[in-house]
Amino acid sequence: MLLRFSALSSVLSAARASALCALLLGAGLTQAADDAYTYANLQDVKVSHLYLDLAVDFEQKALTGFADLSLNWQNQTANTVYLDTRDLIIKQVYARRADGQWRKVPFSLAAAEPVLGSKLTIEPGFQADTLRIHYQSQPQASGLQWLSKEQTAAKTQPFMFSQNQAIHARSWIPIQDTPAVRLTYSARIQTDKDLLAVMSAPTAPGAARSGDYRFTMPQAIPPYLLAIAVGDLEFKAMSAQTGVYAEAYILEAAAKEFASTQQMIDVTEQLYGDYRWGRYDLLILPPSFPFGGMENPVLSFITPTVVAGDGSLVNLIAHELAHSWSGNLVTNATWQDLWLNEGFTSYVENRIMEQVFGTDRAIMEQALAVQDLKQELASLDPDDSRLYLDLKGRDPDDAFSGVPYTKGQLFLMFLESRFGREVFDPFVRKYFDDHAFQSITTAAFEAYLTANLLDKHPGKVSAAEVQEWIHGRGLPATAPNPQSDAFVRVQQHSNAWLSGLHTLDELPTADWTVHEWLYFINNLPLSISPGQLQQLDNGFNLTQSTNSEIAHAWYLLALKTGYREVLPALERYLISIGRRKLILPLYRELAKAPDGLAFARKVYQQARPGYHPLAQGSVDEILKQ
Ligand code: BES
Ligand code: ZN
Repeated sequence: MLLRFSALSSVLSAARASALCALLLGAGLTQAADDAYTYANLQDVKVSHLYLDLAVDFEQKALTGFADLSLNWQNQTANTVYLDTRDLIIKQVYARRADGQWRKVPFSLAAAEPVLGSKLTIEPGFQADTLRIHYQSQPQASGLQWLSKEQTAAKTQPFMFSQNQAIHARSWIPIQDTPAVRLTYSARIQTDKDLLAVMSAPTAPGAARSGDYRFTMPQAIPPYLLAIAVGDLEFKAMSAQTGVYAEAYILEAAAKEFASTQQMIDVTEQLYGDYRWGRYDLLILPPSFPFGGMENPVLSFITPTVVAGDGSLVNLIAHELAHSWSGNLVTNATWQDLWLNEGFTSYVENRIMEQVFGTDRAIMEQALAVQDLKQELASLDPDDSRLYLDLKGRDPDDAFSGVPYTKGQLFLMFLESRFGREVFDPFVRKYFDDHAFQSITTAAFEAYLTANLLDKHPGKVSAAEVQEWIHGRGLPATAPNPQSDAFVRVQQHSNAWLSGLHTLDELPTADWTVHEWLYFINNLPLSISPGQLQQLDNGFNLTQSTNSEIAHAWYLLALKTGYREVLPALERYLISIGRRKLILPLYRELAKAPDGLAFARKVYQQARPGYHPLAQGSVDEILKQ
């Protein structure tokens, strides 16, 4: 039995529903995931295949056309279908009977709920085998960004891309928008013939531009992994299996930067089994892309801010690639289980980095992540420091933090250290195999972990320890504490300079990697004087750094310590990139003082039109009166 809570619109009812569900789970009445972020009646019907026939209209900033949803009925007496939509214009709905006859059928679109959007109810009165929904998206679609040609690098052609995770698929496709369902899809996308369309589906490398593109994704994926981008894109191969799509200005640089991608695939296959998706290509988005990367299958979406020139930020590629196992193959059943995606992926990412670039770098990346996490934990609501998140009815985007990532990674490192790699690696590999192309809840993972690791190797990790990791707040005392020798040396040199024992020239910066620079900047004391900052800036030109992470760390330190020289460069930075992780902490810091807030508002006025809707929402919130 599976319960359906149709009135999950308020925080209160969502909380009640999950309490009830927990009760039933306890009583063994249901094993099913209850995703509070969908209107879908999954116990009655599941969408098994989607066909999209869409025209890309840059004038109206709209995707226009129809979606065919193939239905797999779970309940033979039901015939109503509930779907998720947000800001969609629904024009007509047709339903096909098993005998092949199409009928125009009644539907109703409910008023929009702030988080979930509008419930679309379709009532054919019979058990349809396919629904055809004619619709269009609106310019404010939360899952799409429409860039005018002036907003692109080359300024010759417009650009449009999607970002569905967590619950934005519904803003451009009427769908059962929950990671608990999987569907195959195919699509016909029509656009200007000067533009190339790509999707999270196999594309023949080097396909000619025609303005009329077809895609078929034969592997079942959750809706948050549906993706599309259209722009003045070119392709460059990196290996037989991998390549880059990008605007011409960055194509060569990106292919060079990410040349290690094939090697990353090879080492991951060694550790965790076959890569099951065929090709693996990268799409370099415009700088407004709100994330570092997004693991859209077959085609990871990547921010241009990691094309640093020296490969220093390629852990992002390892991360998005790792999702081909953790996330895309084995998927979190609800957004409360996000750590199953991101914690496993951060762990696998680091294993890849270790294999390809060595232990020292892998440990530096662990140590930087742990420092970031500890800082974030200091100001995070303790309830949100649990791996199994209680979203409390919030938009999943609003509960986003480093916890599912780095605390999740630390939990897996903890298990690795207790069981040893010779036991833990095969366990993880089997976990991926046993749950391939399935969605999994935290509760199901706990049962699997107990049966396949804890009980098989008794005495190594207790049930209570696992409980504390998954359901406890903060970091357990058993948390690994990665120590980088390189960072210890940086700290010693830093101390010597700060105390006046050494001059700036004596800092061995010529040998420092980007990671050592980041550690150095992040660990300078806030009592550092503007004079000392000026000295560093004169010596190393940090304000003009072209490494997006170093610049970010430096601007943040400058704002915290009152080093105003960065402001013109900071202004350019905030206007030219829209990656939330890089810009939000800077806006937050600026907003703390009246003059900073005034500066931020002035800059934001210019920056806002170029930001993605998600970034706009977050910055609006930070700078509101
Ligand atoms: N899947 C995430 C991005 C995401 C998470 C989008 C949650 C929406 C909701 C992606 O794989 C990711 O984690 N990106 C990171 C990469 C980093 C940890 C290397 C990012 O964008 O910064
Ligand atoms: Zn991720």
